[in-house]
Amino acid sequence: TLGNSMNIFWQESPIGKLERQKLLNQKGCVVWITGLSGSGKSTLACSLSRELYERGKLSYILDGDNLRHGLNKDLGFKAEDRTENIRRVGEVAKLFADAGLICIASLISPYRKDRDACRAMLPDSNFIEASLFLNERDPKGLYKLARAGKIKGFTGIDDPYDPPLNCEIEINQKDGVCPMPSAMAGEVVTYLEDKG
Ligand code: PPS
Repeated sequence: TLGNSMNIFWQESPIGKLERQKLLNQKGCVVWITGLSGSGKSTLACSLSRELYERGKLSYILDGDNLRHGLNKDLGFKAEDRTENIRRVGEVAKLFADAGLICIASLISPYRKDRDACRAMLPDSNFIEASLFLNERDPKGLYKLARAGKIKGFTGIDDPYDPPLNCEIEINQKDGVCPMPSAMAGEVVTYLEDKG
């Protein structure tokens, strides 16, 4: 359906997803990494992208911070802006997956309903949600500013974060120690390999 749009028509592509996947020798999907600021999302995304590259698999990272310099530069951090941010990135991720790439989306994506809406855009097995919980990291000094009241509406301080209830991959600290980036990426690679 085309929602409430009028007088616009769907144009079929001459090359289908299956043909693109065959050309690339891989299956398109979305790995959606969610977690608090500083939880290691970008570290995991970069390490995963590298591990996939080493295996001859093409991925592309959609990073929340980076996209806010361009596609989403008109959005701030109030609830409706975050929702629109996630909706847009969900749509873009869906296009990348359709193109045949392993799209790695790395955003706080704090609201479960928004992540679920992105999941609903894709066939079930093509949306892999990975949640990260690594504490005590403040690489950008943002928590310090938020606790001092210098940033308002900071996720986890005075703005909510809904942890996933049923995600495909959960990465936590073990005995208070953060896993190495390659170990985190390895967990995701193993999942992707197991699912073909
Ligand atoms: S969201 O919630 O998914 O729309 O956020 P996202 O697009 O991933 O952007 C998160 C980065 O924005 C910086 N930042 C903030 N984060 C949370 N709350 C507030 N108020 C805020 N203001 C700025 C911060 O650098 C986040 O980067 P990461 O990589 O997550 O630490």
